[in-house]
Amino acid sequence: MTTTRGERLAAIAARGHRSVSALRQKADVVDRWLRHEGPELLDLGTTPTGVRAELLADVERISRWLQVHRILVDRVGDMIRQARRTRRGKPVRVLDVGAGSGGFLFRLEDWAHRQRIPIELLGVEVDEDTVRLAQRQADEEGRRVRFSAGDARDLEAFADGSVDIAVSTFVLHHLDPGDAACVLAELDRVAAVNFLSFDLRRNLASVPALWALLRVGRFGAPTRHDAMVSLRKGYTEREVLALLAAAEIPHHAVAALPPTFVVASRA
Ligand SMILES: C[S@@+](CC[C@H](N)C(=O)[O-])C[C@H]1O[C@@H](n2cnc3c(N)ncnc32)[C@H](O)[C@@H]1O
Repeated sequence: MTTTRGERLAAIAARGHRSVSALRQKADVVDRWLRHEGPELLDLGTTPTGVRAELLADVERISRWLQVHRILVDRVGDMIRQARRTRRGKPVRVLDVGAGSGGFLFRLEDWAHRQRIPIELLGVEVDEDTVRLAQRQADEEGRRVRFSAGDARDLEAFADGSVDIAVSTFVLHHLDPGDAACVLAELDRVAAVNFLSFDLRRNLASVPALWALLRVGRFGAPTRHDAMVSLRKGYTEREVLALLAAAEIPHHAVAALPPTFVVASRA
């Protein structure tokens, strides 16, 4: 019996919910206190575009401070070199899912230019205003990056293996476990060579450090709110493992990265 894509995603979501709920039922009192369920300002349709843009600019700033940009370009750069072997001179296709203001793709384009690697860069983002702003910046800077509106939970515009590398940064924690499992399954489905999911990892030790960073950096109230909530909504390493199993990604690798990240890909 064949299943439709909707049925497949529904089954993945159900497994994701079940497996993460089972882990959370066994969580200790500290983790139960730490874990947060409510939305961030970035998740609310009522948040003004200017505040969203400020929040996304601050994600970029914090990522730069925590060396995330370097880590991501290194890791995705390795995947691009691997993909190049199968592309026979054609551009390596990279899709960023939940691309936000597009900063990662812009940095990757600069990197590829320096490395003289032909590359095709696509960004998908659920918020249409954010898509417009990212595309405007790309066009003004003469970049060859294309952004489109789409939902990470069902990348219906992308056929299986239609990009070489699918990346998603700081997106999983915005979604409940069922949706997060679907995102991982979709990244794996569309990527011919590999995928990479990079996000915050919920842990108590990082709470005071993030609190201090937000104050030292004089971040505004919206960012102070969303950053703390993000950390408290981040999936743990064990939860990401459970999500990958729910997504039926057979050979996967998950690693906790200091100070407060979790990264998943194919092994
Ligand atoms: C914290 S921001 C990270 C942006 C960017 N990836 C970065 O690392 O700077 C999360 C982004 O994911 C987007 N997002 C949330 N849910 C999504 C979904 N279901 N599909 C696509 N994008 C989504 C949000 O609109 C937001 O732009």
